[in-house]
Amino acid sequence: MTENELDREHLAQQLAEACAENRRFESRVRNTEIALREAEQRLQQAQKMETLGTLVAGVAHEINNPINLILYNLPLLQKIWADLLPAMIGLAESAPERKFGGFSGDFLKDNLAQLIADMEMAANRVTKIVADLKNFSRQSNIAEKHLLNINTAVKNALRLAQTTLRKVAIGVRLDLAPDLPEIEGNLQSIEQVILNIVINAAQAIDHARGEILIQTGFSLKDGRVHLRVTDNGRGVSPALADRIFLPFVTDKQAQGGTGLGLSVTYSIVQAHGGEIFFEKRGEGSGTAFTVQLPTLLKRQAAKILLVDDDPMVRQILKEALAIPRCYLLEEAANGIEASIRLGTYRPELLILDVFMPEMDGVEVCRSIKAEPALAGMKVIITTGFPGHPKLDELAALGFTTVLTKPFNIPDLFRTVEQLLAER
Ligand SMILES: Nc1ncnc2c1ncn2[C@@H]1O[C@H](COP(=O)(O)OP(=O)(O)O)[C@@H](O)[C@H]1O
Ligand SMILES: [Mg+2]
Repeated sequence: MTENELDREHLAQQLAEACAENRRFESRVRNTEIALREAEQRLQQAQKMETLGTLVAGVAHEINNPINLILYNLPLLQKIWADLLPAMIGLAESAPERKFGGFSGDFLKDNLAQLIADMEMAANRVTKIVADLKNFSRQSNIAEKHLLNINTAVKNALRLAQTTLRKVAIGVRLDLAPDLPEIEGNLQSIEQVILNIVINAAQAIDHARGEILIQTGFSLKDGRVHLRVTDNGRGVSPALADRIFLPFVTDKQAQGGTGLGLSVTYSIVQAHGGEIFFEKRGEGSGTAFTVQLPTLLKRQAAKILLVDDDPMVRQILKEALAIPRCYLLEEAANGIEASIRLGTYRPELLILDVFMPEMDGVEVCRSIKAEPALAGMKVIITTGFPGHPKLDELAALGFTTVLTKPFNIPDLFRTVEQLLAER
């Protein structure tokens, strides 16, 4: 090959690489654009809900007074009618042709009480809708919040749903994660969220193999608990799919649906700083609703590297630190292993034994000092020999946080949290 040809080949290769890089870049831009558009849509949806909430609160308030007046007067009317009835019967007998508001005495005798009862039922339904609307518009001011476990809310809600579920013979399976971190919320409201979703799931099932699966879990990544309700019903109708969280959107008018359940649910979840969404499970194979709620472990899980040559010590530390479920633990059995791990792994915190064969804790600390990329990492020194000269060496290097073995677990937590908070 001549020099010219070599040059050209080299240029062609560079061009190909540049094109590939360009394509990768374009695809990243496209993905970012999609994510942005989705975020924008969610924001618009949230704003729409807020405006609706304010509007609805006003309307609910306006309806409340007149409907109270009606509900107050209806029993009065019933009583008056009961007293008037004998007189009217007498009147109708003496003048059978006489009409009352266009109706015969006979007709009124048989039907008027029922008409009044129907009016009362309708007025009660309006009251229920107004109460739901008020719930929906209550938005961010859920009355009282306490620490609660979402599994408790699931069990309570299921007790309330039992009659409905038994009537339609639907199997309910529970898959509740143990040791979930608590959320700060209003128990009744969270129960209402679960109840609304479960009842909807039951109502969506129109065959004899009905099954509802309720799962809870926790994600270390974002510190949120989730609740997932899966049904094998008819699936959300595509015509309603992008509106089901809006008030009055329902395809169950005939069965008395108000279309308020999911909008109330949405506003409760919002008020708890959470998110709700649903997924289709393929044509005709049901729906899954997921609610995510933040726990007090809002912080992202902190990465910790545990270095000790004693497997028993590592085991104890691992078990203790697993309890709050907010740490990601990795371990190394000696200084050399730790140094190798630190080449690629960037923990926020190192829990480091001093005396280890081959490369001890002091040497690990020296190599940490020498590596600028590890500058922000916190270190807890652990040792069975308080007062040993090696601790002075470590202090001189700037590593002064020391825990003495055997560990006092509360002390360990306090120290870990203190150092992580300092970052
Ligand atoms: N699990 C589900 N499967 C299919 N459709 C659902 C499900 N959950 C909700 N939907 C749809 O969303 C609509 C709105 O629900 P909701 O707000 O609770 O009002 P309602 O239950 O009174 O109709 C329902 O009418 C139904 O069409
Ligand atoms: Mg409903």
